[in-house]
Amino acid sequence: MTPEGAGQDVDEHRADRMQAALPVVVATLRRVVQDLELTDDELHAVLGFLGEVARADELVLLSDVLGISRVVDDQTHAATAGTPSAVLGPFYLPGAPFIDNPGSIVRAGESGPDGAIDARGSGLVITGTVTDAASAAPIPGAVLDVWQADGAGTYSNEDPTLPSWHLRGRQVADGAGGYRIATLAPSHYTVKHDGPVGRLLAAAGRHPWRPAHIHFLVTADGYDTLVTQVYVADGPYLDDDAIDDVKDALIRPIEAGILRFEIGLRAARGARS
Ligand code: BEZ
Ligand code: FE
Repeated sequence: MTPEGAGQDVDEHRADRMQAALPVVVATLRRVVQDLELTDDELHAVLGFLGEVARADELVLLSDVLGISRVVDDQTHAATAGTPSAVLGPFYLPGAPFIDNPGSIVRAGESGPDGAIDARGSGLVITGTVTDAASAAPIPGAVLDVWQADGAGTYSNEDPTLPSWHLRGRQVADGAGGYRIATLAPSHYTVKHDGPVGRLLAAAGRHPWRPAHIHFLVTADGYDTLVTQVYVADGPYLDDDAIDDVKDALIRPIEAGILRFEIGLRAARGARS
């Protein structure tokens, strides 16, 4: 099929989905409005709020805290095998530098804009093997892109005093599919809550905290890309994540400064036997 033909198929699929979806969305919204007996003033308050969320660039955050991102992620990656997925979140930066294997993503101590900075957090090693989820065969050459908050709950792109790639990096799995990354233990942290979404959380009596976690984006030829997070066992908010993204299968303990996280990838459609 020509690229133009493929593009046309995508457009037609979208148009079909739109035609099927709109009546469902409209009927559901009308029912909510009727059930709640929404008044004119309340409708305008809701519309004004959504405008504010859009102007503050918080639409994705709204979807996150309403748990919609989680549900869509589950539906998109309904895997029968392999490591479960998790949302990408707003702190991913593409193009992180490659580190050795084994290697370190701790860049504190290197020169930041304000000179050398201290590392915040205790030392941690994350390690495991990337395998084919169906056959358990190792996947040498898989690329792990990792990013996380530090022991104070801060990502490098939130704090201009931190070196730009602090606690971020890409590593290539070795000949046995193994990876080993020295880092700092992450802390729990709050999602952005100084804008309209924060007001919504407060009005609903909800907190903005996420449990401590490390993000992974794992790619390998012939496999579906995996976006996931590993959650540190025994920390706060595992049962009460502000974006409801924790899955039991992604919680791992830190033992003697090591967190083991085995990663199973699903063969890409067409490559599956
Ligand atoms: C995160 O884990 O980085 C994240 C995900 C969704 C909203 C805010 C933060
Ligand atoms: Fe995060």
